[in-house]
This record gives sequence, C-alpha cells and structure tokens, in this order.
Amino acid sequence: MNDERKKAVGVFDSGVGGLTVVHEIMKRLPGEAIVYFGDTARVPYGSKSPDTVRRFASENIEFLKTKDVKLLVVACNTASSIALPEIQEKEDLPVTGVLLPGARAAARATRNGRIAVIGTAATIRSRAYEKAIFDIDPDLETRSHPCPLFVSLAEEGWLDDEVTELVARRYLQPLADFKADTLVLGCTHYPLLKKVISKVAGESVVLVDSAAETAIEIEKILREKDLLNDMESRGRFECFVSDTPYLFKEVGERFLRMPILKVEHVGKEKDGKGWHTDDSENKEKP
Ligand code: DGL
Repeated sequence: MNDERKKAVGVFDSGVGGLTVVHEIMKRLPGEAIVYFGDTARVPYGSKSPDTVRRFASENIEFLKTKDVKLLVVACNTASSIALPEIQEKEDLPVTGVLLPGARAAARATRNGRIAVIGTAATIRSRAYEKAIFDIDPDLETRSHPCPLFVSLAEEGWLDDEVTELVARRYLQPLADFKADTLVLGCTHYPLLKKVISKVAGESVVLVDSAAETAIEIEKILREKDLLNDMESRGRFECFVSDTPYLFKEVGERFLRMPILKVEHVGKEKDGKGWHTDDSENKEKP
C-alpha cells in the first residue's frame, strides 16, 4: 500500500462532540488511522462570534497538520457552518465538514419538502444549513431553531431523561406548526439525544444524523483520491485535547462508544503561534 494511504484522517471539534463523527468513521472505515483534536480549553464554540470560531478552527487545523494527515475533517457543526469555506480555500489537503453531508441527506429524506434544523446558536445564526439546502433544491422549505442546552445535557449523560424531554418540548415547540417531516440534528451532541428528540418531534419525523452522513462523504473523498486505507486490522487512534485530559476520557467514551486508551494534552505556545505537547497536564487528577 502506498504511504499516502497509510496517513491518518485528521478530525477536530470544539471538544468531545466530534467523537460521534469518529465513531461513524471507525464503523465505516475501520482500517483508517485517526488523529483527533478536541479544543476543550475553548469549548463551547456555539456561543462565540464568527471571527473567534474562524480563528480557533484555523489554529486547530495547524495542529492537525503537524500530524501529517491526508484529509481534514471539521467535525464541529459550528465550525463547519462558519469556517469551512475559508479553510477549503486555504488548504491544499482535502477538507470536509459535517454540514453538507447532513444537508444532502435531509434533502433526500424529505417527502413534504419541509426540513427543520436544530443546532447551536452560532450555527443557526449563520443560516449555513438553510443556504446549503436551498442550493441543493430551492423548492425545499426550511426552518431552524437553536437548542444550546442539548450540549450540556448530552455531556451530562442525561440522554433519556425527563428533564431532557422537557427541554426538548420547549425547544421544538416553535417548529411544531411548520410540520417538517425531516429534522437535521445540526450539532455533534444531538445524535446522543435521538431517542428523546424523536419522541418529542414525532416518530414519523426522520432525524438526520450528520455524523453518519459525514463518514459516507469521507469514504467517497478517500476513494476518489485513491487514499482509502482498506486494511483489515483496526487503524490507530490518537486523541489530543487543549485542556486537561482529566474527565475528557470518561465523557469521550460515551460519545465514541468505546474505550479511549490515551488522551494527550497540547498547549498553545506562549507567543500564541503553534502548539506543544505538555506532559504536566497529562497526569490524572484525583
Ligand atoms: N461541537 C459543537 C457543534 O457541533 C457543539 C459544542 C460547542 O458549542 O462547541 O456545533
């Protein structure tokens, strides 16, 4: 196999959420090596301004490139909504986000032409999903609503819980009159809350999980570029975070749905340019 194919897929997110995308990549493309970066020191991105999200995204890409990756995956809906076009323009490597695969799947799934989108405040404000769906088919109608509390509820592990259901009822109420038959889960964390969201939205509403769709897109890009690693043995998984690895492992394993053997801390250089590994933060706290 050529050396390019052996290189890893580089994935970043604002924190643990992108591990739902890693889970789907591992399921679909088990031979691929994956380097993951969770920007836990600066999460959440969903409440930040577009300029800040663009800056963080570009710094995270710089880190992944130090790992000699063959493809960059922006596994954060907020960063995909705001920063992806700029990253794609700037980078020589292939880059994909989670937005377009989700928008395409929603356009395919709808029967009544009405698609609802939920995501972080920044994602919804950007209107990126609406624009992407309009570009796919201008006859499709969209309506969107921010659901920021879902992020904390998913991280807390309140996946099938009455509090989560109450929050979901409040968030999804403004979308009820719209009568969408398809709902895009436009945030890395929302697939974990599928059961409650489906109960509240109505079981006939199709939930589009961007994570699963992104894995399909990644396979397509790698195949087209002859970069697919189809080894039978499982590819290596390296995990880096910008805050202490303590706690990340526990919450991360819920998102990845498998054990994470090692999480390494990386810090920003003092001049703000570049990243360095920092062993002092790697020790588990009591
Ligand atoms: N990863 C983010 C997203 O998918 C959710 C968490 C955050 O706000 O940073 O939009």
